[in-house]
Amino acid sequence: MKSLFLLNPDITFLNFGSFGACPKPIFEVYQDWQVKLEREPVQFIVKTAIDALENVRQELSAFVGCAQEDLVLVTNPSYAINTIAKSFPLQAGDEILATNLEYGACDRTWEYYCTQRGARYIRQEIPLPIRSKEHFMEAFWKGYSKRTKAIFISHITSATGLILPVKELCAEAKARGLITIVDGAHVPGHIPLHLGELQADIYTGACHKWMMGPKGSSFLYVHKTHQAWVDPLVISWGYRSPTPSESLFIDWHQTSGTRDYAAFLSLPACLQFREAHGWDEVSAACKALVRRHAPRFCALMETEALAPISEEWLGQMFSIPIKTNQPLELKRLLYEAYRIEIPVTEYNGRNCLRYSIQGFNTEQDLDTLYQAMEALKKEGIIY
Ligand SMILES: Cc1ncc(COP(=O)(O)O)c(C=O)c1O
Repeated sequence: MKSLFLLNPDITFLNFGSFGACPKPIFEVYQDWQVKLEREPVQFIVKTAIDALENVRQELSAFVGCAQEDLVLVTNPSYAINTIAKSFPLQAGDEILATNLEYGACDRTWEYYCTQRGARYIRQEIPLPIRSKEHFMEAFWKGYSKRTKAIFISHITSATGLILPVKELCAEAKARGLITIVDGAHVPGHIPLHLGELQADIYTGACHKWMMGPKGSSFLYVHKTHQAWVDPLVISWGYRSPTPSESLFIDWHQTSGTRDYAAFLSLPACLQFREAHGWDEVSAACKALVRRHAPRFCALMETEALAPISEEWLGQMFSIPIKTNQPLELKRLLYEAYRIEIPVTEYNGRNCLRYSIQGFNTEQDLDTLYQAMEALKKEGIIY
């Protein structure tokens, strides 16, 4: 399957989680759209792309289980979270409740806007390893106070690679009258997503990770009841549009000046690729491979997994807790000496090696990682 991708065959690629990788047939569609743009830039940007984007939103919203008019295409989850945090009606003293496992860029975004407005961003500590859903919920809600206005939570965490019980969190947050904002960067194409059932008020997902789209393709979903307060990050022609559509939400957020729409326009090709290659089964096999090898890596590092090794907590990634005093040197050695692309992740001062398994990975790739880790342990780089 690796031949379907553009990836360098000399590298053991265990880092799909960071930026995905676009299969060749999808990348060809992406380049075709770019050629179409350059043949007739004016027609394309003012007409062809706009019509085609409606089709993209239709297909993508069906894939993630929401109404078409509640989803806009954005370049990345960072853009989506900035849009929300900047617009959020925060007053001095308000609190946004998150965990200490959030992604650094989004964490900084909330910190920035909370600080500007005299509000507090609460990184509630989640003790690891997580033992159960109840254990997680209990730890999370300790961060709640009467000043909490919203919760912000990753559906799948970045450094620790864990699926969090977001559906239960959203239900509980609703019961407490809180707005729910979910960072689902790792979710589309990775685990099933039905926004109607999840009941989050606001959700962002990256399509350039596990959906295998070109870089710069993501979405922001906002439930109708919240669309009125979400300002566009870039004010452009969609504000008081001379040609308004039926949705102010789409008009406001879809237009942000001249740009290359090709990544967005390639998303139907991602869905076709999944269909054509039976990706639900491919993904299930990847998840099984992730879980099968996880105990072996924990045993090597004489450590415990960060949550139960089960379908409930793990998808196509596993973060092996490691100890190292030289995280940068470790990363360098893995890439340069062992030709393995894998991130050394960091959370709360601790480190993990996070492997991602995609359709092109094999048992052999994990054996290669294991052997490298054995050698690095002998050298004292990890312990
Ligand atoms: C949990 C999580 N949220 C948000 C992001 C941000 O994605 P982007 O850089 O595409 O905005 C990432 C990226 O890896 C992530 O892992």
